[in-house]
Amino acid sequence: MGILIKNTLAILPAKDGHDVDRHDLYIEGSTIAGIDEAPAGFVATEVIDGTRRLTIPGLINAHTHTYMSMMRNVADDLSFTDWLFGTVEPIEDRLEPEDAYWASLLGQIEMIHSGTTCFNDMQMHIGQTTRAVRESGMRAVICRGLVGSDYDRSDYRLAEALQERDDFADCSRLTFRLGPHAPYSCSPNYLRMVADVARELGMGIHIHIAEGQVESDNMRADHHCTPVEYVRDAGIFETPTIAAHCIRVDENDRAILAANHVSVVTNPASNMKLGNGFAPVPELVAAGVNVCLGTDGAASNNAQNMFREMSLLALIHKGTHDTPQCISADEVLDMATINGARALGLPTGSIEVGRKADLALLDLDAPSLTPLNNPVAALAYSVNGSEVTDVIIDGRAVLRNRELLTIDEERVRHEITRICQRLGLA
Ligand code: NI
Repeated sequence: MGILIKNTLAILPAKDGHDVDRHDLYIEGSTIAGIDEAPAGFVATEVIDGTRRLTIPGLINAHTHTYMSMMRNVADDLSFTDWLFGTVEPIEDRLEPEDAYWASLLGQIEMIHSGTTCFNDMQMHIGQTTRAVRESGMRAVICRGLVGSDYDRSDYRLAEALQERDDFADCSRLTFRLGPHAPYSCSPNYLRMVADVARELGMGIHIHIAEGQVESDNMRADHHCTPVEYVRDAGIFETPTIAAHCIRVDENDRAILAANHVSVVTNPASNMKLGNGFAPVPELVAAGVNVCLGTDGAASNNAQNMFREMSLLALIHKGTHDTPQCISADEVLDMATINGARALGLPTGSIEVGRKADLALLDLDAPSLTPLNNPVAALAYSVNGSEVTDVIIDGRAVLRNRELLTIDEERVRHEITRICQRLGLA
């Protein structure tokens, strides 16, 4: 029982970058079971002709908030403070829990169509994004956002996070982390409590750090340290941590992140759109930090398209460093795939025997892939996601010939329209 992708051009990991060649890919259960050689007893229940397809590891969106998808284009051209406290939070206060379910499905529709197979989500309404993931077939890491000021193990948000983890333990595509929101919304005592619980339960951490200049200035004034030092001193880095943004990180901060094996998620579109700048990615890489890529939520991006993010990631650093050698197309592809898997501790992100079968197939007849010349460069600089025809996640076809098999797209559009009207957004 399995899927055979026959004679496809595929991007495999190589010592220095990637190897692109034609292969037969054998998928059995949830994993890649063979490359060019069928595993013993393999029976194909589905054969995909890969002759005109480029097969890549599914993209990993390492930082987003899918419940915010209905807030696309409602808070633009505002300062970060006006965006968050003046517009986004008042809308969040009026959300019904089920709104988050439909919005997450909307975000997942956009991600699947553009080749993303896994996302790392920070959210507030337990049981909603998780339910949407269970139905969509995607892989996800779920973090209930946590904010607080006391060392209080009975905090209701923490209880909800752990409850959700227990409620969805039966879905192998879901894993859970603790999500202390940010240094400016969590006191040192609260962070210490979250760090202790995470360490005791063997859970990873997902946090925003150093997103804007105001955060760094306030931290310096109030605590005489940088946001990175503040989070480190509260013990958060004693458990595997993935940190979104890390825009204002000096050389000392970068050394701290590297020494503590903190993975950094850069979110170029969101960071630039909010006027926050962008993470010093070449410098983080030089310091030895594992850098991965995310979209952030649709309220600040305003898309969930990882190909657009890859292009921005490559171009902004070349443009600001006055040298095109500071980041390569191979590095960008790794940041959108295997580096995200490494950050999240998931056995996905590359086409290798034994890895999870999370794959996206692109149409080689698309104008943006013609002539192909260099497929890895094409992924970083040419494609926009519309080339994706098929998506397989956990060994299961989720998108076939551009048709979504798991989600009723029309129903989701209808529900989102209804929600936006109720919220007064439409
Ligand atoms: Ni975020």
